[in-house]
Amino acid sequence: SIAVPVSAAIRGRLLSFHRAPAGPGDLDCLTYCEDGLLLVGADGRILEVGDWDDLRGRVPDGVAVDDHSGKLVLPGFIDTHIHFPQTQVIASYGAQLLDWLEKYTFIEEQRFADPAHAAANASFFMDELLRNGTTTAVVYGSVHPQSVDALFAEAEARGAGLIAGKVMMDRHAPAALTDTADSSYRDGKDLIGRWHGTGRQRYAVTPRFAITSTEAQLEAAGALLREHPGVHMQTHLSENTDEIAEVGRLFPGARDYTDVYDRFGLLGPTSLFGHCIHLSDAEMARLSESSSVAVFCPTSNLFIGSGLFDLDALSKPERPVRTAIATDVGGGTSYSMLRTAAEAYKVLQLRRQNLPALAALHWMTRGNAEALGMAGEIGSLEPGRWADLVVLDPAATPAMRHRMKAVDGDLEEELFIQVTLGDDRSVAATYLRGRNSHLRQTGA
Ligand code: GUN
Ligand code: ZN
Repeated sequence: SIAVPVSAAIRGRLLSFHRAPAGPGDLDCLTYCEDGLLLVGADGRILEVGDWDDLRGRVPDGVAVDDHSGKLVLPGFIDTHIHFPQTQVIASYGAQLLDWLEKYTFIEEQRFADPAHAAANASFFMDELLRNGTTTAVVYGSVHPQSVDALFAEAEARGAGLIAGKVMMDRHAPAALTDTADSSYRDGKDLIGRWHGTGRQRYAVTPRFAITSTEAQLEAAGALLREHPGVHMQTHLSENTDEIAEVGRLFPGARDYTDVYDRFGLLGPTSLFGHCIHLSDAEMARLSESSSVAVFCPTSNLFIGSGLFDLDALSKPERPVRTAIATDVGGGTSYSMLRTAAEAYKVLQLRRQNLPALAALHWMTRGNAEALGMAGEIGSLEPGRWADLVVLDPAATPAMRHRMKAVDGDLEEELFIQVTLGDDRSVAATYLRGRNSHLRQTGA
């Protein structure tokens, strides 16, 4: 048989989900090898996953085993909503959404007209994702197409796959930060031609939100989506009550905020809607019917004071809305998907809802992959998937090490500690396509 040669071998406690957990204690949803070995082919995809004892003989001479024994090896985390030009907006004081945009974000994003600034920030951005164990992200660029060129070039050079797009905004922002319906259509088409399907990169048509796009521009976004099947769409929806009121004033003919996007053909299975906090039942029904995805951004929703995501309402069995979870840096306050899940737990606590550890880890790996329609490529440790991995240290900090001493081999309890206390310090290593892309300095 024609076999792809083994080019990397990674040993550790392999953990991967094959479906969503039904609730706490549902360990059948995952595959776990206490002493496992993952073999990677020369193409960067997973060849085989199994017990060390069964697979050790398959490691060719000349391939060194990366030994992470005692540490957890999971599929790399997937961040489904993050803003590339906001790495110097994160942690900006004292404002809610519309003021925060005007006072901080719309100032900072203007700097991304400069390709050198964009390139330097793309390098930082990819470093920071990988340091946090995030191997795939869905990213908003700035309004400038060159910001997206810089980002895709950096990701591709590192072997990472991003889904990204140029922000479309043709009103209610500084002149230096606006495009037009026509220019955004042309720039979008150019970027799709240049990047969608180039290496691992994929495009997302990205109208910022209803307030900053005219009807003509939303029409252009719909046209880009129709003309390029397979591209994603991302925007913001129902984040803040002042925002919702303003959308009502700007689109008096629309039934509700969701309907503004619906009228332009922007709902669908490849459409990601950030926040979705204050939706009516009718809006949730429409998102469900169109197979659209609601993206939960807990650290952002708390930091900008936007509100509490209602997972139970969105998940009603008679009209379930697909969901994903994300950082939303720079409204969000952490690049870490672990930290993000810990804050998601607290948001849901305030709603008297739950987020078991298994659900959280499933969500940031396979769940987000499914939300992107990419579960065949990423999000699980299965043959054929990209060998994008995160290695987690169960005793990364003194507090974690101390707490772990009270755990007697209970995997689910260990995972809850990891989700609650873990962050970039837990990420011992990150792999892209089987190649080590980040190795945490011990003692750092
Ligand atoms: N709504 C429109 N633009 C943005 C943004 O950059 N961040 C957040 N959190 N919400 C938005
Ligand atoms: Zn956002």
